[in-house]
Amino acid sequence: MSAERIPREFIQRLLTHIELVDLVDSRVSLRKKSSNNYFACCPFHSEKSASFSVSQNKQFYYCFGCGAHGNAIDFLMQYDRLSFPEAIESLAKQAGMEIPKQSSAAIPNTIISNTIYEILAQIAQFYQAELRKSDITIQYLKNRGISGVIARDFCIGFAPPGWDHVLQTFGKTAALKQQLLDAGMLIKKKEGGCYDRFRERIMFPIHDRRGRVVGFGGRILNTGEPKYLNSPETTVFQKGHELYGLYQALRANRQLQRAVIVEGYMDAIALFQHDITYAVATLGTATTAHHLQCLFRYTSDIIFCFDGDQAGRTAAWRALLVTLPIIRDDSSIRFMFLPEGEDPDTMVRKEGKNGFEQRIQTAMTLSSFFFQSMSEQSDVSSIDGRARFANQASEYLNQLPTGTFQQMMFEELAKKARIEVTQLKQPKQINYKKTDYKKTNSKSQKARSPSALRLAITLLIQDPPLATDLSLPLPSLSLPGIGLFIELIETIKAYSPPNTGVLLEYWRDRKERKLLEKLAQTEHTVPTAGIKNEFLGAIEQLKKLAHTQKIEHLLAKGSQNSLSFEEKKYLHELIHNRE
Ligand code: UTP
Ligand code: MN
Repeated sequence: MSAERIPREFIQRLLTHIELVDLVDSRVSLRKKSSNNYFACCPFHSEKSASFSVSQNKQFYYCFGCGAHGNAIDFLMQYDRLSFPEAIESLAKQAGMEIPKQSSAAIPNTIISNTIYEILAQIAQFYQAELRKSDITIQYLKNRGISGVIARDFCIGFAPPGWDHVLQTFGKTAALKQQLLDAGMLIKKKEGGCYDRFRERIMFPIHDRRGRVVGFGGRILNTGEPKYLNSPETTVFQKGHELYGLYQALRANRQLQRAVIVEGYMDAIALFQHDITYAVATLGTATTAHHLQCLFRYTSDIIFCFDGDQAGRTAAWRALLVTLPIIRDDSSIRFMFLPEGEDPDTMVRKEGKNGFEQRIQTAMTLSSFFFQSMSEQSDVSSIDGRARFANQASEYLNQLPTGTFQQMMFEELAKKARIEVTQLKQPKQINYKKTDYKKTNSKSQKARSPSALRLAITLLIQDPPLATDLSLPLPSLSLPGIGLFIELIETIKAYSPPNTGVLLEYWRDRKERKLLEKLAQTEHTVPTAGIKNEFLGAIEQLKKLAHTQKIEHLLAKGSQNSLSFEEKKYLHELIHNRE
């Protein structure tokens, strides 16, 4: 069932029926810290002291160590590794609520997809059965060091020689044939008719992270072109999304401490065979941001493994560029380069688990790889060279999310380029003082007001009922974030979400979600009893700022002699009502 088909209204209602503390406590035993706060050792990263907190008031959890956070839905997605709709299903079951029927328009698509998954699963079984009959193939796998157990874990199979095994076995009717085509298992002939895509190949089913077969990779038995043939992209398979071996890695590790990204099917399998159960392979494509974001859901420690040749360096640099915009302060990205002529498969067979893991230990950090590659491109012994180096590097570093890591990278760059960090083209800090009008008579107020807005939003997110009896509309105000603030108030007034967890659910697919989640965790220093007053005070300040902005706007316009009579009169009134 896909997310769009579950009515939003139901999701919100469901959330109000779930007690997050109980939900978490059924999986991670919680300790009570204060009347509304519970603590535990974080289930999402390994630690000895308890940094994982669950707030009963907010219905929101947060880990001070790794930053994991969210509401009941997020918890199930992270802890039980469920998709969004699966998490809803699970919560609905617990709450004894029935998910409203999906709209009929959406049904055909589901049926088709379900059938594709079923067909692919059956074909995978067919290939596995064929493998058992093919001594040559079994021998080939044995020669490559693959045991029967691993072959079974990865559901390795064999597509026998011949043009129509799959076609004959699974395509008995025109409709079934069409489904095989949709699943990418058949190729259409120009002159009509079709034939099997995979013939006389060792078959590696590609599982999505839930274990459904979504496609195949097929390796030629001996020599021939192409060496590997992959399923085409279909409704259930996108190469830039799937990682080969991730399903097996997740099954083998309750918690994925780290992930090594390799290039080949056989690399991932060989590592697994040597008990390195955290390798995943990209599917004949470069690593995408999607791949990384998917992995970040399970681990924050990612090691890219490349060949030691020039092609490997180039691929690594490309991977680094993809990583920059999505790297988080808590993530560790490293690059390891194998000696020329080796791939992870040959390497681990030579050096074993320990040898390979030692190589992982000595992998280059993202920052050393970055600075090494950058300094190779410019001559840092000359002033000109250093300036170019600083400029180019700054441009890349500006792609990093704002945060500690970015700051540290800029400091490192300043050291390397031997200039002051302030001289580097750093990203503009979020500039709340931005205004079109140059008047400065209300400087102090302007400086205070953005924090007033930030405080107001923070308090509101952490305690949504604050907005229930607020009068709208707020005066028009040009201040970054004001639109979001007004939308929050309108949402609360319209739907009365009782707590943070329910409120944030309205922002699940919005780009502002991250910011809101951050504010949901922010510890403000306002004592509980003073929250309402502080909130109203912040709003008062915003109203005053709106007033000042109007005056400034008219004054600026007036200095160009373009005020109409009405505007002059209005300005006069505004100035009089200022206090
Ligand atoms: P390699 O050519 O490095 O093969 O391709 P390999 O993994 O070492 O294979 P073995 O050890 O000879 O069996 C690495 C990956 O690139 C993709 C596949 O995903 C492969 O695993 N590839 C390679 C293709 O998609 N098509 C090809 O023809 C070759
Ligand atoms: Mn290989």
